[in-house]
Amino acid sequence: MRKPKLLYTVGHYSIDYRVTVESHGCGVQRAEMARKKLKKFTTLEIVLSVLLLVLFIISIVLIVLLAKESLKSTAPDPGTTGSPDPGTTGTTPISAECPVVNELERINCIPDQPPTKLTDQTNNRFEVPHEHVQSFSGNAAASLTYQVEISREPFSIKVTRRSNDRVLFDSSIGPLLFADQFLQLSTRLPSANVYGLGEHVHQQYRHDMNWKTWPIFNRDTTPNGNGTNLYGAQTFFLCLEDASGLSFGVFLMNSNAMEVVLQPAPAITYRTIGGILDFYVFLGNTPEQVVQEYLELIGRPALPSYWALGFHLSRYEYGTLDNMREVVERNRAAQLPYDVQHADIDYMDERRDFTYDPVNFKGFPEFVNDLHKNGQKLVIIVDPAISNNSSSSKPYGPYDRGSDMKIWVNSSDGVTPLIGEVWPGQTVFPDYTNPNCAVWWTKEFELFHNQVEFDGIWIDMNEVSNFVDGSVSGMFHKQPK
Ligand SMILES: *[C@@H]1O[C@H](CO)[C@@H](O)[C@H](O)[C@H]1NC(C)=O
Ligand SMILES: *[C@@H]1O[C@H](CO)[C@@H](O)[C@H](O)[C@H]1NC(C)=O
Ligand SMILES: *[C@@H]1O[C@H](CO)[C@@H](O)[C@H](O)[C@H]1NC(C)=O
Ligand SMILES: *[C@@H]1O[C@H](CO)[C@@H](O)[C@H](O)[C@H]1NC(C)=O
Repeated sequence: MRKPKLLYTVGHYSIDYRVTVESHGCGVQRAEMARKKLKKFTTLEIVLSVLLLVLFIISIVLIVLLAKESLKSTAPDPGTTGSPDPGTTGTTPISAECPVVNELERINCIPDQPPTKLTDQTNNRFEVPHEHVQSFSGNAAASLTYQVEISREPFSIKVTRRSNDRVLFDSSIGPLLFADQFLQLSTRLPSANVYGLGEHVHQQYRHDMNWKTWPIFNRDTTPNGNGTNLYGAQTFFLCLEDASGLSFGVFLMNSNAMEVVLQPAPAITYRTIGGILDFYVFLGNTPEQVVQEYLELIGRPALPSYWALGFHLSRYEYGTLDNMREVVERNRAAQLPYDVQHADIDYMDERRDFTYDPVNFKGFPEFVNDLHKNGQKLVIIVDPAISNNSSSSKPYGPYDRGSDMKIWVNSSDGVTPLIGEVWPGQTVFPDYTNPNCAVWWTKEFELFHNQVEFDGIWIDMNEVSNFVDGSVSGMFHKQPK
């Protein structure tokens, strides 16, 4: 198996592919030469001819063996490395393979899903940290369901379904743009049955392909009919190819602000302002299979607890625990099915996480015990933003402990925590990509649970939301010298 590192230069960026190139023997030419030598009959020539015949037989055997080897090479074989082939232009048939990488490196390849990762060869660029995408450890697929072809000039990439030669992904419909803050790739689609992308209110499940642009960038906006971007980011779409159910999915692993344009060709354009173009293509016999493969890659949702499927009551502004208790008792008295009570930010002391209002929610711990005695549960709201209001006269432990652990998101100087504004006023933001942050976050829940035995949490404002643009000191910061 060959693993040349082919470099494609687009503008001043190089694009790195790891591909397998199948090699074929040159037996036909050798056979021609052997036949010509049999025309003359001197002793020397007969001896030479016999020698050539022997050589010919040996070469046939070798060709057969080589052919078998090259067939075998579609299965992973970490032992061998091929050499790059920078000279050839045009379309080279290749099949994607799983690069053999160090365990510490991220692995973005599952053998039945061609990895198509377009990045800058010379500069480090932001890549989504994804702890749930694990290295593949099973057997490679015996026969691949797809073929990947790369055309170098102009650059394009094509993924074909082998069983019916249908082209699923074909970026030759438009140029690849790879600038620092503008990356774009378009692909022609085999059908206009496109589903997915989000989060927005879509007027229909099957997308309208008539030049629709869907922005993807988490934003604290309630669902509206305007098609604007909302709380979540789903860069995945599924394309139903035909009436038999054959389908494929495309996932772009990129967390920068982006937009996706649907076009009548049918075609789709991904356009993002940072990171890399890291595409995953999933082939399935049914839409369900495609979704299963996608979840196999990104991880499955957590199984909710049984009680979480019950009847919940949630509203803002009970104001005091007395009001909340009154509502709980009134519903009990009416014998309404009622499993879970929620507490919005008004339970907090000055709207700060991991605290409860000592005046208005005095007796909160005892109230929760009472819910439990009645077979009911409590869900509390929690916001990622942490107030920075801590002083020796009124210390705020969650902020002080987090500051000690240096787990806040920093501003662009790289060392000063970025200050924004959320419910409690000025806040810092936990950097959840920092492993220490998870330690801090878990510990704060444990400490608060020792006071109030809540059963579940409702994480609010985690887009991450901020009431000011960028930070309290403005949207743009001076770049460090
Ligand atoms: C959506 O449209 C409605 C009017 O239909 C408008 O009131 C609202 O502000 C719009 N929302 C956004 C986020 O643009
Ligand atoms: C900080 O906390 C103190 C004590 O709770 C409070 O009086 C003060 O208003 C807070 N400051 C700000 C800026 O929120
Ligand atoms: C929170 O941080 C900002 C920016 O550093 C600072 O101006 C403000 O005084 C801090 N708030 C408190 C209550 O210390
Ligand atoms: C943020 O700055 C602190 C120093 O204040 C540093 O220890 C920490 O590593 C920085 N965080 C990141 C993600 O760079």
